[in-house]
Amino acid sequence: MGSQPWAFLSGKQIPLEEAKVGIMTHALHYGTAVFEGIRGNWNDDSRKMVVFRLKEHYERLIRGCNILKIFPPKDLQMKDEINTFSVDDYIEITISLLKKCGYLQDVYIRPLAFKSEELVANLKLHELSSNFSLIIIPFGGYIDNDKAINCQTSSWRRPNDSMMPTGVKLSGLYTNSILAKTEAILGGYDEAILLNDEGTVSEGSGENLFMISGGEIITPAETDNCLLGITRDSVIQIARRELGIEVKKRKIQRSELYLADEIFLTGTAAHITSVGNLDNRKIGDGNKGEITQKLQKIYFDVVTGKREDYFDWCTQVEIN
Ligand SMILES: Cc1ncc(COP(=O)(O)O)c(C=O)c1O
Repeated sequence: MGSQPWAFLSGKQIPLEEAKVGIMTHALHYGTAVFEGIRGNWNDDSRKMVVFRLKEHYERLIRGCNILKIFPPKDLQMKDEINTFSVDDYIEITISLLKKCGYLQDVYIRPLAFKSEELVANLKLHELSSNFSLIIIPFGGYIDNDKAINCQTSSWRRPNDSMMPTGVKLSGLYTNSILAKTEAILGGYDEAILLNDEGTVSEGSGENLFMISGGEIITPAETDNCLLGITRDSVIQIARRELGIEVKKRKIQRSELYLADEIFLTGTAAHITSVGNLDNRKIGDGNKGEITQKLQKIYFDVVTGKREDYFDWCTQVEIN
């Protein structure tokens, strides 16, 4: 079977071109949606799609849904919190759609749980119906991982959690990331680094941040308003297991970044990306640092299903 774009919407698989929502859809007007970004890495040796930390992505999706009271119904007649999809349901839907699409290449898997009521001027989450969609698209690199990229400290600040929940992927929150990324790209940089409202480092526009200084690996704490990144968690565990380094979670001042030996960004799309320049200042010698390279190598082997000892993080899907 050749590859074809299929989607999952309103409880069933349909051709992608038929997967549409109306102009009145609440989420379109107000950003009332929660999404995930998951990678499927094609392993040509095993002929399997290796989906990285699928369970953890759906656990985060459901946590975000609880915050926004988004309960996509399993049975469309019953709009009830107890009739919504579980992590296992989402995993099954994803594996089935991967098989249906039949892509034999790297893919990006995009679940979206959203307020689907075709109603505006209603800001009461508990009154609005929800739906769930899933699309899978062929996907290559997001940022060039081969080089050390050039970053800008954004003039936009990452919102504080008291303004909007920052630990989960709420669609509305991404206007902030998009403003920062656009500013950076139009300014000639590759990526933006956002400070939080306190002025300490939070994260990249679509990545968490790590700094290496005097052999220590440091990342902003969860309370610094960064997304609770799954790659961030993976890197923390890999650093402990493979390098014997316990990553420190603490506030990072802006100028500490200029003084760092290495900086790298982590994310599902960005993988592990080295930062060679920040605000026109070299980080280390401006090239990929030693520890960054070590982590990058291990991480790539893990996410592409080459490390059996990390198979519990990989859902391996046979595509026929
Ligand atoms: C704002 C933001 N921070 C961090 C990340 C990294 O998160 P993860 O590693 O779970 O993909 C992402 C990507 O999803 C993101 O959009």
